[in-house]
Amino acid sequence: MQAEKSKSLPSKDTILEQLNWRYAVKKFDSTKKVSEEDWATLEESLILAPSSYGLQPYKFIVVTDQEMKEKLRPACFNQPQIVDSSHLVIFAAKKELGDEIVENYIQRLQEIRGTEREALEDYINMMKGTMQQLKENGLEISWSQRQAYIALGFLLETAAMLGIDACPMEGFEADKVDEILELNDYTASALCTIGYRSEDDWLAAAEKVRFTKDQLIERI
Ligand SMILES: Cc1cc2nc3c(=O)[nH]c(=O)nc-3n(C[C@H](O)[C@H](O)[C@H](O)COP(=O)(O)O)c2cc1C
Repeated sequence: MQAEKSKSLPSKDTILEQLNWRYAVKKFDSTKKVSEEDWATLEESLILAPSSYGLQPYKFIVVTDQEMKEKLRPACFNQPQIVDSSHLVIFAAKKELGDEIVENYIQRLQEIRGTEREALEDYINMMKGTMQQLKENGLEISWSQRQAYIALGFLLETAAMLGIDACPMEGFEADKVDEILELNDYTASALCTIGYRSEDDWLAAAEKVRFTKDQLIERI
């Protein structure tokens, strides 16, 4: 069973090869665009990202409109990837958490799984309790952001597996991006530009700078 299943999985060599191939692109080739088919797979990776309790306290804003990218660029310290990439994704984290986010999720869960509300009551109360605690401790945004970053990781990994380039970006002014995109209930937490590396991006060939396995992994 397992052997049969593994046939459709990427090999260990392919996974590591692609993760080594991936790097944070500094210069995209602005003439190359991600196909609709590939983009659909990348979007699916965002949707499939896990989140705590499954609450998905975020939204992904996908910008392909060149005028909007130009408008956003100054709010991103003028980084060229914003305008030269094919797609720009803004990971927008929900600013306030309360009963509403739990109820929305439960409604969706019931739609999909048809579970009776009665059977979910304890779970609902636990989630609402967690949301309340986050609020009391001023941790709503940081919790939502942590969830959004998991989706960023999914997008980066999926892009690498498809041979599509990306650059994760924290170099931007959130208040300005929020204002331009009229995010209101959400705040920009991370960005990711997606596209194809330019042939003259010198960083593409640079060695990866990572601490050693012994430094980063502790085995107990
Ligand atoms: C959350 C996050 C934010 C980052 N922000 C930027 C950014 O604003 N601009 C940029 O050019 N690179 C940015 N980077 C890229 C990192 O500098 C890069 O991932 C790191 O140096 C490791 O190199 P590699 O990804 O090429 O292996 C960011 C990376 C992460 C994970």
